[in-house]
Amino acid sequence: MSLNLEDGANAVLEELKRQQKEGLESIYLEQETLDELRAALGSRVVAIPTPENPTAKPIAKPHGEKIRGEASFLSTPPVVNLMEGSKESRTSQLREQVLACPACNANLNPGAKVVFGVGDLNSEIFFCGEAPGADEEMAGEPFVGPAGKLLDKVIATMGLSREKVYIGNVMNWRPRHQQAFGNRPPTDEEMQFCMPYLKAQIEIVEPKVIVALGRIATNGLMQPDPNLKMGDLRGKWSEFGEGPVMITYHPSYLLHNTSNLAKRRVWEDLLMVMERLEMSISKKQRAFFL
Ligand code: URA
Repeated sequence: MSLNLEDGANAVLEELKRQQKEGLESIYLEQETLDELRAALGSRVVAIPTPENPTAKPIAKPHGEKIRGEASFLSTPPVVNLMEGSKESRTSQLREQVLACPACNANLNPGAKVVFGVGDLNSEIFFCGEAPGADEEMAGEPFVGPAGKLLDKVIATMGLSREKVYIGNVMNWRPRHQQAFGNRPPTDEEMQFCMPYLKAQIEIVEPKVIVALGRIATNGLMQPDPNLKMGDLRGKWSEFGEGPVMITYHPSYLLHNTSNLAKRRVWEDLLMVMERLEMSISKKQRAFFL
């Protein structure tokens, strides 16, 4: 069977839609590929202006509004002054500030919510993702979509539950984009803007370990050498401030790479976390995904 370019591009689009239903959150396309797809599919493919390609012209702006993150909103990161008090009272003060944050709200999609961290304020582990996705921005809660369900399973495999750990994101809103589906990785500017909110959550929870989920969260937290790949960064102890960070793959990586090898890599990173926290680890747990 031979396909012309339009049929081929349509087939790719349909396959991507199918994968989206299964949890695919983002894809990266070279400009050349994007141009070819646009030639084949016209207005169904749109580009996002990025720092590398600032003149990319979106075919339609969503909701007729300005594109997310135009710098004036984000020029000054917020100042957080945590008051004295219990973890609960400090968290509710912080949550109130974040939910009312003008820049966060200005960058929301229509009907979406600003997303603040959830979980046990006394947790020894702080799982840190990148940014809310479509499900999270509607729920106003991190990691509730397909990647979140998988994260819940990972946490359960550690003998814990979602309620017993703390889960937050580098970003408090879902980065807006012009594509029909998927997520756009946050820019450095967006991540640096939200950083005081993340730091304040870490200051309150005082976790013994932060688990950085994926490359974007890792970049936001620690700006590692861009030449290093996730394979080089994961499974080793890093630091955020004075605190230890374990870098591992994002759960959405496991949604697309279902091999035991991928699961085992993540699991080995988390075994290191469990060992550091002196959690009990059964023989069965040690042997998972071998
Ligand atoms: N991916 C993230 O990094 N964070 C979420 O909250 C959801 C998906």
